Amino acid sequence: MTTARTVDVGGEHPYTIAIGPGLAGDGTALARHVRGRHALLVSDSIVAPLYAGAVREALHAARPELAIGTFVLPAGEESKTLAHFGAAIDALATLGATRDACVFALGGGVVGDLAGFVAACWMRGVDCVQLPTTLLSMVDSSVGGKTAVDIPQGKNLVGAFHPPRAVFADTATLATLPPRELRAGLAEVIKYGAIRDARFFQWLEQERPALLAGDPDTLALAIAASCEHKAEIVERDPLEKGERALLNLGHTFGHAIETQQGYGGLGNDNLNHGEAVAVGMVLAARLSADLGMAPVADADRLESLLQAYALPTRIPAGLAADALLARMRLDKKNLAGRLRLVLWRGIGQAEVVPGVDEARVLAVLRAG
Ligand code: NAD
Ligand code: GLY
Repeated sequence: MTTARTVDVGGEHPYTIAIGPGLAGDGTALARHVRGRHALLVSDSIVAPLYAGAVREALHAARPELAIGTFVLPAGEESKTLAHFGAAIDALATLGATRDACVFALGGGVVGDLAGFVAACWMRGVDCVQLPTTLLSMVDSSVGGKTAVDIPQGKNLVGAFHPPRAVFADTATLATLPPRELRAGLAEVIKYGAIRDARFFQWLEQERPALLAGDPDTLALAIAASCEHKAEIVERDPLEKGERALLNLGHTFGHAIETQQGYGGLGNDNLNHGEAVAVGMVLAARLSADLGMAPVADADRLESLLQAYALPTRIPAGLAADALLARMRLDKKNLAGRLRLVLWRGIGQAEVVPGVDEARVLAVLRAG
């Protein structure tokens, strides 16, 4: 048994997020969510060698009769494709998975989004348990049931809402996370302060040394606080009809950057998701100031905090402003062909702004 913090997500499909070290090896707890006889463990080529064996063994020890399949993606955003989605579906078919099967998503947001979408689609929906192993996936992508794959035209354009049965954030896995990926997760943590909690923002200013050093207790506090924020929002608005859109501060800009640069690739200079969101949040704050909605000082404070966390705050060279604007036109939040962006009134006060003037956006992109 391990000690864990828990955050409950209420609503029509309630579940619990458990946060603590060693949870991915707690076979009894994991197996509790497998209603039938089939489990598919989805992971990636970096995470699987580190942790998949332990998860399989733990599940097998708790439920020896389970048929457990494994599907491993090449690591990285470029694997979040319809082709890999299809291959994971094939793995479920080969396993003979029935409607009471359970898909375990062991990895970062790429694995979680793809495996969640596979679970949403197999036989019109089977259970999914999220086992996030990046900070970003612990604080954001494993919670709330957004699942998707990318297509060349845009990120996350094909997907479904499919809430998990449970989330186990095994914080011991963060020990192997590269520092750059830890910082990417911290960008999403900072997002919660920026959109709705000025005191948390201030705490993140104070606790930067401990968080950047990967101090387990401070990280666990940040994960729990972030999950509480996300849980509060998604239980009221699971399908993003309203306030859930606030969680996308910086994402319309960030997704445009990710799509325009071409979905990463290990070892190249492309921004990862958290880094693109960091740049996007600064652009949103700058646009808010230009529109007279928020003080310039708050945009400066956000940019300083992100820079202190060694996160990028400027659009990478070579990405043309008009090309980014064209990408932003395909954002899922847009309505009636007009840009609908998450902007803010200042730190802790995000809001959704419809009908944003494209010329003002272009000016910020050109300066950015
Ligand atoms: P990722 O899944 O690509 O993981 C980042 C890298 O870290 C990968 O190379 C991975 O193999 C490696 N890794 C993962 N865990 C590790 C560990 N414990 N030790 C060592 N290496 C490890 O990226 P991410 O940042 O976790 O997730 C980004 C994705 O999440 C994007 O596709 C984004 O669109 C999506 N996302 C979804 C939501 C949502 O609500 N569904 C929210 C935010 C982001
Ligand atoms: N990451 C944004 C959301 O879950 O809505």
